[in-house]
Amino acid sequence: QSLRWHIELQPWASLSHSLEEEAMRFLKYITTPLISCENVNEHGMTDKPKMTRKPWSICLDDRFSLAHQIKNKQCRLYSLGLGTEDNHFEVNMAKVGCEVHCFDPSIKHPHIQEGKHLWYHRLSIDWREPSPAIAAQKLHSRTKKMGTILNDFGHRKIDVLKADMESAEWKILENLILENIVEQIGQLIFEIHLHWPGFEVSGDDSSVVRYWYSLLKELELKNFQLFYSYKDLSKPQIFLKKQAFNASSSYILSWVNTSWR
Ligand SMILES: *[C@@H]1O[C@H](CO)[C@@H](O)[C@H](O)[C@H]1NC(C)=O
Ligand SMILES: *[C@@H]1O[C@H](CO)[C@@H](O)[C@H](O)[C@H]1NC(C)=O
Repeated sequence: QSLRWHIELQPWASLSHSLEEEAMRFLKYITTPLISCENVNEHGMTDKPKMTRKPWSICLDDRFSLAHQIKNKQCRLYSLGLGTEDNHFEVNMAKVGCEVHCFDPSIKHPHIQEGKHLWYHRLSIDWREPSPAIAAQKLHSRTKKMGTILNDFGHRKIDVLKADMESAEWKILENLILENIVEQIGQLIFEIHLHWPGFEVSGDDSSVVRYWYSLLKELELKNFQLFYSYKDLSKPQIFLKKQAFNASSSYILSWVNTSWR
C-alpha cells in the first residue's frame, strides 16, 4: 500500500454545504453503532458508581480476536494521553494479563514498570515527526509518531488502542490511517472532542464537520465498525463553540476491526 498525504473527503451532506445537514449526518453516524457487540466490557466502570468513570469499552465477543488474545495472555494495549487521575481501565487490562503500555510525557523516568504487565513510557504521540532542528537539540525526543514507536518497540500488533488526547485525536487518527497503521490495531477506543475543530484542523464549520465525518468513514472502509457510543452529558453541551444540535462536546466511541477474526 502506498502512503497518501490526504484522506478522501466524503461528498458534502447537502448541496448547500449547510452546517446543519453536515452536523446531523455526523452526529447520527457517531451515535449509531454499525454492529452489535454482545459482550461489551466497560472495564473502567466495574466497581464504582456510574458516571464517575469513563466507559472505555472493549468488545469481548468470540468472533473477534481480543477475547482469544486475552485468554492466551497475548493481548497488548496502548493507552495514549493518560491523565494521571484515572488509570482504572489500564490496571484492569493488565490484571487480566494484557501487556499495557501507557504513554505519558510527564513522568520522571524514560520507562517505568508498575507490576508485571504495566509500563509507562515518557513519550507523547504526535502526528508528525518533530522537526530535525528540535530532534537534534534533544537527542532522545519525547514526541514520536505511532509508527516510530511501534518500530522502536518491535510491536507489530496492538489489540486495543485507547486515546484520550484532548482534541489531538483527529490528527492522530488521520496519521494512523494515512500510514496504514490502523490495520495493525484490533479495537479502537477514542474520546472525541467537538467543542472546537481540534489541533491543526481548519476551515469553516461545515468543512470541519465534513472532515471529521470523512475520517470516520475511512475507518469504516478499513473495516472498523462502531460498536459502542457514549455521549458525555457531564461535559459542556457545545458543538463548534455553539450550543447546537443537542450535541455534547465529548463522546467516547469504540470500534472493532472486523477483518480480524
Ligand atoms: C485489521 O484488518 C485488516 C484488514 O483491513 C487485517 O489485514 C488486519 O490483520 C487486521 N488487524 C489486526 C490487528 O488483526
Ligand atoms: C437530546 O439529547 C438527550 C441525551 O442524549 C436525549 O435524551 C434527548 O432526547 C435529546 N433531545 C432531542 C430534542 O433530540
